[in-house]
Order: sequence, then C-alpha cells, then structure tokens
Amino acid sequence: MRFAGKRAVVTGGASGIGRATALRLADEGAQVLIGDIDREAGEALAARSGGAIAFHPTDVTDAAQIEALMHAADAGGGLDIVFNNAGAGGARERIGDIAAEDWDRTMALLLRSVALGIRFAAPLIARRGGGAIVNTSSVSALGTGYAPTAYSTAKAGVLHLTKLAAADLAAARIRVNAVVPGFILTGIFTRNLDLDADRRTQADAMIARNAARAQPVARAGRPEDVAAAVAFLASDDAAFVTGTHILVDGGLTLGTRASWDPAESSLLSALAAMR
Ligand code: NAI
Repeated sequence: MRFAGKRAVVTGGASGIGRATALRLADEGAQVLIGDIDREAGEALAARSGGAIAFHPTDVTDAAQIEALMHAADAGGGLDIVFNNAGAGGARERIGDIAAEDWDRTMALLLRSVALGIRFAAPLIARRGGGAIVNTSSVSALGTGYAPTAYSTAKAGVLHLTKLAAADLAAARIRVNAVVPGFILTGIFTRNLDLDADRRTQADAMIARNAARAQPVARAGRPEDVAAAVAFLASDDAAFVTGTHILVDGGLTLGTRASWDPAESSLLSALAAMR
C-alpha cells in the first residue's frame, strides 16, 4: 500500500498502459482520477473500481482541459502524483511529406500535453509539500525505425523535458521521471485504423505474434510491465530518483534480433557459408 492517502491523475487512463497504471496505483491505495477522451471506457473502469478510480473527460490537446483535470483532482482533496501518458500514433508521414498542421497536432498530443500536464500540476503538488510526476516516452526516442518521425521526435522531447522539469521542480520536492516502453500489447496499433471486426481480429493476432518475438525477452510486453515501473517511480521507493527514465522494453533496444538469435541470423549464416 505504497500510495495509501495519495491522490493521482493518470492521462490516457481508459486503456492500455494508463489503465494498468490506474489499477496498480489504486491497488496500492491511491485515489485515481483518469483523464481521457474515451468516455465509455473511462466510465466503465471507474464503475468497476469500487470508488478508487474516477473519470474526468479530458482531451490533452486542449490546455484548458488539462488545467481543469488537475484542478478537479486537487479539489477532491489534493494532488500528489501525475502520470502524463495519453497518446496515439500521430502523423505517419516521413519528413519529406509531412504537413505543418499534422506535425503541430502530433506535438500537441504527445509533447505539449506533457509540458502542460507538468505546468498545471506542479503548483498543486507543491502545495502538498511535494510528490511525483511520471511521463511516458518511448523507445522511439532513442533510435530510428521504431515509430513515425513526428511521434519519435515528440517522445525524445518528453525525455529532455523530464530532465529540465526535474531540475526545476526539485526545490518544490517534486520528482519528475519517465518510462520508456518498448513494444507493449495495447490498442494503440489499431485504434486509428478503420478495420471491420474480421480484419481487426487478424491485425490483433499479427501484432501479438510480432510482439512476442520482437525482443530478447520472448513474450509480448504487457501494460502491467510498464505500470510496475511507473508505480516504482511514483513511490517513495524512488525518493532519490529524479530526471531519469526506466526502459521497459524486454531488451528491444539491445540490438537487432539477428545479432543474438540463431533462428533469425539468415544473413549472417549466408555470409558465413560463403567462406
Ligand atoms: P492505448 O491506445 O491503449 O491508450 C491510450 C489512451 O490515450 C486511450 O485511452 C486513448 O483514448 C487516450 N487518448 C488518446 N488521445 C487522447 C487525447 N487527446 N486526450 C486524452 N486521452 C487521449 O495506448 P497505450 O499503448 O497504452 O499508450 C499509452 C502511452 O504509451 C502513449 O503515450 C504511447 O505513445 C506510449 N507508448 C506505447 C507503446 C506501446 O507499444 N504500446 C510503446 C511506447 C510508448
């Protein structure tokens, strides 16, 4: 019960990583307010939580709605923990094709939302004598080939923003850290695709197969894997940890699978056979 008496906000809490984190924080004693655009899923989660989780309709691309979310949590009895996590894939175009407004929309969703989440939460957390903020970045912040350009750039921005905010807010006893998920099985990969039920089932199966074999740890990443790291960073167990991140990627960033898995090293074996 690391969060008994604590009050938390989780954005994007209606699904995936945010949902698992809301459940984990609540499980360990927190009162959680989730902010999300998905009213149906958010209200359903709140309804089954026995009062530990509440829902506040929030679009994190709108500054006023982020501010209202933080104030709603504060009005309920104070704010100690914020998980700035809401997100989606954003613009898919390569840099040579992207439109200015699509770039801006992606940044607003994935980077400005985090900056404003910190901006509006910090004074409220400071009034409680301190607390913790955790932001969701991505392995795409660390290298190419994981996700589209605008998304990856925003996620890299989240990592640097995390450091700057941590330095700035340490005096207010607010720690700021990030989680860097790898390939985690959630709805994010198909959410914005217009698929009928059959094709969605096919896509989900294909994603699940890939997720299980994408990285050294030979199973799919789960939202709960990330939630556990967020809970650590939000807790007093991480009291001396600020301005950094935890990779939760099953080793995805260690290198290409072909470098260690004999079954995948067809090019290496082909070259070896030429000797
Ligand atoms: P998800 O699609 O399961 O959950 C995302 C949640 O954010 C949904 O409930 C959605 O309604 C909400 N959301 C989307 N736009 C919003 C907006 N404008 N305002 C408020 N809520 C909004 O996806 P997942 O995977 O749980 O994603 C959570 C975070 O993790 C995102 O920031 C994503 O970029 C990041 N991430 C996910 C990875 C993965 O492999 N699933 C890998 C690395 C990072």
